[in-house]
Amino acid sequence: MISLKKLPNGFEYIDIKNNSAEAKIALNGAHVFHYKRVGEEPVLWLSEKTEFEEGTSIRGGIPICWPWFGINEDKNLPAHGFARNSKFKIIKQDEINKDMSSVTFKLENKEYELSLHVEVGAKLKLELKTTNIDTKPFKITQAFHTYFNVSDILHVEIDGLNNKPYLDALTMKQEKQNGSITFKEEVDRVYQEVDTTIVLKDANRTLHVENFGSSSAVIWNPWIDKCKRMSLAKNDMREDAYKEFVCIESANAFDDFIVLEPNESHTLKAIIY
Ligand code: BG6
Repeated sequence: MISLKKLPNGFEYIDIKNNSAEAKIALNGAHVFHYKRVGEEPVLWLSEKTEFEEGTSIRGGIPICWPWFGINEDKNLPAHGFARNSKFKIIKQDEINKDMSSVTFKLENKEYELSLHVEVGAKLKLELKTTNIDTKPFKITQAFHTYFNVSDILHVEIDGLNNKPYLDALTMKQEKQNGSITFKEEVDRVYQEVDTTIVLKDANRTLHVENFGSSSAVIWNPWIDKCKRMSLAKNDMREDAYKEFVCIESANAFDDFIVLEPNESHTLKAIIY
């Protein structure tokens, strides 16, 4: 079943339920803020303090960072782009079979067309397609900024990035991954040359993230101090929320940017299971 729901403040989202899974996707940001397979814990972390309000990004789920990832050179522009604060239109909904449903969202203006196709089943599939409909080249960086729900950050191990180079965003130094990633402090890294499945091992389950159309992946956990600062500044998460999530972001970031010539398209795709 796919239904359009509205909160008392007018905030709209799509509610999906089928035999394999359920999901909720806000029109604001085409933001998947809930995904759960039948009989399992939610895959995505969602802050209980987030405000569901048009024009404001939800804290948790899968914010779409687009058409830039991170801070813009122009400090007046919002971090991670404007897509996550923009209202998308629904252009297609499909109950594919008992176990799979899909919805496609669109955001457009004179320069670009951006569509997000979401397939909800035993796997969650996301396809973010950018088309340049302008007469000049269009440069983008982007990410699915996925917040994974974990039992305890201290029990988390991330595999699949061994030997990969990364930019440590805390020191701005280039490093190389040695073994699995574990968390004992703030981690904010942009991995490069990513070409294999990323594996998230938690105490009681293992999740996989497959990426296509991208060769970078961001691994982020704010840890104690930054989480406290963010909690105070934005009031959209508890100050100890860092214990419950890790972000594995499927990205085209920094050197892995995309330049689209007029009429060209690029699709960033992630499969989560
Ligand atoms: C991550 C960045 O992708 O997003 C972090 O690597 C940043 O540096 C985080 O703090 C959250 O950003 P925001 O804008 O959603 O608070």
